[in-house]
Amino acid sequence: MKKISIRHIATVALSILCMIAVLVTVNGCTVSQKVAMKSGAQLWAENCQRCHNTPSPNTFSHDQWETIGMHMQTRALLNEEEKRKIVEFLKQ
Ligand code: HEC
Repeated sequence: MKKISIRHIATVALSILCMIAVLVTVNGCTVSQKVAMKSGAQLWAENCQRCHNTPSPNTFSHDQWETIGMHMQTRALLNEEEKRKIVEFLKQ
């Protein structure tokens, strides 16, 4: 009969732990990427043309974009982070 040594068990356990750690890390990255990796331009393209044509960044001044951002945040149901990114993009 083959003897299973403590060392063998420890090695297997360690590999399993490593695999779990890798999976959790990879998973964690993809989840946060979905939320955080969206650029202002992307959010703007996805959200601002549902109701009207997307006004281009140079249509309004920086101050006007701040106000429009607040106004359209409530219309487009954006969170603070999304609004901030879109306004940053539009101010360029
Ligand atoms: C749910 C519909 C809706 C969404 C989504 C939406 N808007 Fe609007 N938008 C409107 C309406 C309605 C108006 C007309 C003015 C008002 O709000 O009374 C308007 C007007 C505007 C104007 C015109 C201001 C002017 O004086 O000419 C701008 C600029 C604008 N939106 C930008 C945006 C941007 C940027 C986004 C994305 C963050 C966005 N909108 C998303 C409905 C929407």
